[in-house]
Amino acid sequence: MSASGRTFYLTTPIYYVNATPHLGHAYTTIIADAMARYRRLAGDRVWFLTGTDEHGDKIAQAAAKAGVAPQAYADRIAAVFRATWDRLGITYDDFIRTTEPRHQGIVQQILQKLWDAGEIYFGKYGGQYCFGCERFYTDKEIIDGKCPDHQTPLTYIEEENYFFKMSKYQEWLLREIESRPDLIRPERYRNEILGFLREPLQDLSISRPKSRLSWGIPLPFDDRFVTYVWFDALINYVSALGEVSGERYRTFWPHVQHLIGKDILKPHGVYWPCMLKAAGLPIYRHLNVHGYWGLGGGKMSKSIGNVVEALALTEKYGNDAFRYFIMREMTFGLDANFSEEALVARFNADLANDLGNLASRATTLIANFAKGTIPAPGPLTAAEEEIGTMWARVRGEVDAAMEEFAFQRALGAIWEFIGLLNRYIDGQQPWTLAKDAAKRGRLDAVLYTLGEALRCLGIILAPFLPEAARRIRGALDQTGDPHLADCEWGRLVPGTRAEKVTPLFPRVEDKAAAGLAPVGSPPREAGSDALATMDEFARLDLRVAQVIAADAVPKSRKLVKLTVSLGAEQRTIVAGIAEHYAPADLVGKKIVIVANLEPATLMGVESQGMLLAGSGGGRLAVLTLDRDLPPGARVQ
Ligand code: MSP
Repeated sequence: MSASGRTFYLTTPIYYVNATPHLGHAYTTIIADAMARYRRLAGDRVWFLTGTDEHGDKIAQAAAKAGVAPQAYADRIAAVFRATWDRLGITYDDFIRTTEPRHQGIVQQILQKLWDAGEIYFGKYGGQYCFGCERFYTDKEIIDGKCPDHQTPLTYIEEENYFFKMSKYQEWLLREIESRPDLIRPERYRNEILGFLREPLQDLSISRPKSRLSWGIPLPFDDRFVTYVWFDALINYVSALGEVSGERYRTFWPHVQHLIGKDILKPHGVYWPCMLKAAGLPIYRHLNVHGYWGLGGGKMSKSIGNVVEALALTEKYGNDAFRYFIMREMTFGLDANFSEEALVARFNADLANDLGNLASRATTLIANFAKGTIPAPGPLTAAEEEIGTMWARVRGEVDAAMEEFAFQRALGAIWEFIGLLNRYIDGQQPWTLAKDAAKRGRLDAVLYTLGEALRCLGIILAPFLPEAARRIRGALDQTGDPHLADCEWGRLVPGTRAEKVTPLFPRVEDKAAAGLAPVGSPPREAGSDALATMDEFARLDLRVAQVIAADAVPKSRKLVKLTVSLGAEQRTIVAGIAEHYAPADLVGKKIVIVANLEPATLMGVESQGMLLAGSGGGRLAVLTLDRDLPPGARVQ
């Protein structure tokens, strides 16, 4: 039994392995992590699942493009996802991959069950198909003859396939959603699904002929076909818990909540509940849907360029700051805009000024005026009572907000409390009280209150800013795992040792933030280098180059020899990237080179230029283009 008596099972989407993780994936996974941490803090029994979606056209195509087998490709990208989540401190309990036997087995079991029950039939279907989405679109959904998601032309495909009798569940699903107002939330997404259900629901094609696509799970009753990727992927939420008769399934499934982005609302809001119903399994408790991050707008976001680079900002500003920003900036359910400028603004205002200063000031005051030991509080006044009362309210608000995944509201409430405390210090002026021995009791009341507030913040902030919260607790000698139940006001024991915290979030100077640090150089200290002139920059001839061939340089651990095309000419470039890239993975990539460098000879090979790459956190990344340009194009 858990301390709270509650059980909580939370899932993220399983991400496609045709691309490496980016800001969007990180957002979902980070907020899921904050939620899982919050529920654990509250004493719930928690299971937090994430993973990768590895079958289907997209993956087969990406693997073919990289010149490797789909499984090898999936292995590689799945490992990148895992490593990214580990680096971001994501506390997932399980990571499922759809190519694992434990998943494939359950998918086949469910398919067989539905086939035996007559829920699946063989039929013919012709329609407009989007290869990007791997699904057919109905006439109503098509916009200007194009896929509404990818804005690319659709292809008419006619083929025989197996169909799941989804239409038969339309009425049931409608009633289910109507009778459970918070099943799909926030409400705008519930309304969207209700909108879909106003139109007749089609049956769902759940197979793909192997002749067209072999990278999938074979249908157990006809191995000329593989399972349609959505039918395969959705089942991960069940298969990750093992057999339906098993302990883990029985413990967690009745409490399942999914967290997804709005792009995949329909499969989760329509297909999945119908599939579960047909298979005789209960549907989810809640489907929690968030909005989309966009880039652009603010001027600094131009320097971010794409969503992948946005994720790289975790290295520049730290995991805690990145988590805080994305949770505070985006109202759950709505879209938001990402920019480095906005991140830096929040970093300085909320983290460096409000929280960072509070922690430094409070611990410094306790160190200076109470020799680093929490004093017994003297007589309390209305000011202390206001803080205690507000704390109780904040706890309630955080709890209510977290029930609804409203991270921005939870943080807003905590920051109101932080604001009150900073004003309290200014108002009480403990440094003045310290000058008058008769006011010792008042001074002790203030110092105790500050210590207690910090102790409580060190607990409640743990899901949101794990590292900063740990440091706050450490400064107050609070060891062991934090528990929400311990942040009852007034539990801080006089006599507790307290030490000064070093600044939790040193201010970011605006100049340093005015652009990403040049790739390859160590993170820049504000104002530490002389500024480059435009003329100096203009002397560099940067060009787009396409890698035609890549080979390891014999006897060198680090060097790779690249043959690149600049359109009109070919060059040889020797680059020190062999520890980070297999030569074959570079072939075909469009990279950026400095084309007017003096040639240099490395391990006997002449290098006629230099490629641009960035590094940080032990990783190296070669700069590529986020949109196609011809080889030889100038980069400026
Ligand atoms: N494989 C499917 C999901 C199967 S779940 C049974 C898939 N994968 S995905 O790699 O494309 O990931 C989509 C998810 O990534 C979104 O639902 C969302 O969680 C996240 N995001 C991707 N881009 C995003 C933004 N720009 N903004 C916010 N989140 C987005 O779909």
